[in-house]
Amino acid sequence: MSTNRRNFLRQAGTGLAASMLPMSMVRLAFADSAQDFTFAYISDALIQHIKGNQFVRNWDRGLIRAVAEANLLEPKPDFVVFGGDLAQLGTRAELDHGAEILSALNHKMYVVMGEHDYYLDLGDYWSELYGPQYYSFDHKGVHFVVLNSILTYDDWTFDRWPTAEQRMNEMAGLDNPNGSPFMVGSKQIEWLKQDLAGVSKKTPVVVFSHSPLQKIYKGWNFWTEDAAQIQALLKPFAAANVIYGHVHQIQYNQIDNISFTSVMSTAWPWPYPQSYAQAESFLPVLTVPMNRADPFNERDATGWQFIDVNSGRTDVAFNLYDNTNRTVAFNPETGKPEDTVYQPESARIPPQRQY
Ligand SMILES: [Fe+2]
Ligand SMILES: [Fe+2]
Repeated sequence: MSTNRRNFLRQAGTGLAASMLPMSMVRLAFADSAQDFTFAYISDALIQHIKGNQFVRNWDRGLIRAVAEANLLEPKPDFVVFGGDLAQLGTRAELDHGAEILSALNHKMYVVMGEHDYYLDLGDYWSELYGPQYYSFDHKGVHFVVLNSILTYDDWTFDRWPTAEQRMNEMAGLDNPNGSPFMVGSKQIEWLKQDLAGVSKKTPVVVFSHSPLQKIYKGWNFWTEDAAQIQALLKPFAAANVIYGHVHQIQYNQIDNISFTSVMSTAWPWPYPQSYAQAESFLPVLTVPMNRADPFNERDATGWQFIDVNSGRTDVAFNLYDNTNRTVAFNPETGKPEDTVYQPESARIPPQRQY
């Protein structure tokens, strides 16, 4: 562990954590090809318009706080990623209000498309604000890819709904059977193939998507229909990492050489799928769910994490508001990310029944 990293962890663990922070701090420390650097990750703000100049206060506060604290981070992050779902119903009022809050960031920002940003006008206004919906960039020896993973079948998007508002509403519901599975789509997959063809297989690759690029629970669209095709493109790389939003909860998984890590929302936590009508889990088998969120505490189960991608593997420390902090680290012996405390069944926090 470098001196820098120790200092960083100390700072993150003391001053900042005490008042932190619905965002994700990500640290990359690749051994060979890349220099150490950090970036911050803020996701799923779901800015919601009420009427006139009124917006849902709690969601505003979550994003305002993340932006303010990202500006105070030491060491200064090289950039900030916003992980999608800036708006609740994709309106100009919501996107403008969210953009205004994000404009207070003192850092370069990369933005990911979420389904709540997209399905009103199919991304038109979002693109006016943020540009291309998928792209890649290189930073200090790491190849980063941003995907729009929330597309779906053309007939659902273009033929099914009488109005754009209805289309947006149908996709916005978490457990709405009228929704449709997310996908990256053949055009973007072809682009990704070309993009990755120019990258050395030894170069660490980090992909940002909004939906998980794996199939977790279709009933809530914790799902990407063509995930297997993306995974196949990432498989030849020595180390690949996917960081995704959308699920508003801690999830982690390892598929082949690909480490998957979710990030927290600044707005609210989703429950875990198995809590829904005693449904089967469908979570990645490694994931130890967070203990319950307290519905009377508006910031509970929102939080932040920093990710140390040491030699291309993601070690994630989750700092959670009013919930037990967690660390999920890559275990070289098993070749998988594991919770450093709660992975053994016997060590887990007992279920709480007061809700
Ligand atoms: Fe979301
Ligand atoms: Fe989402």
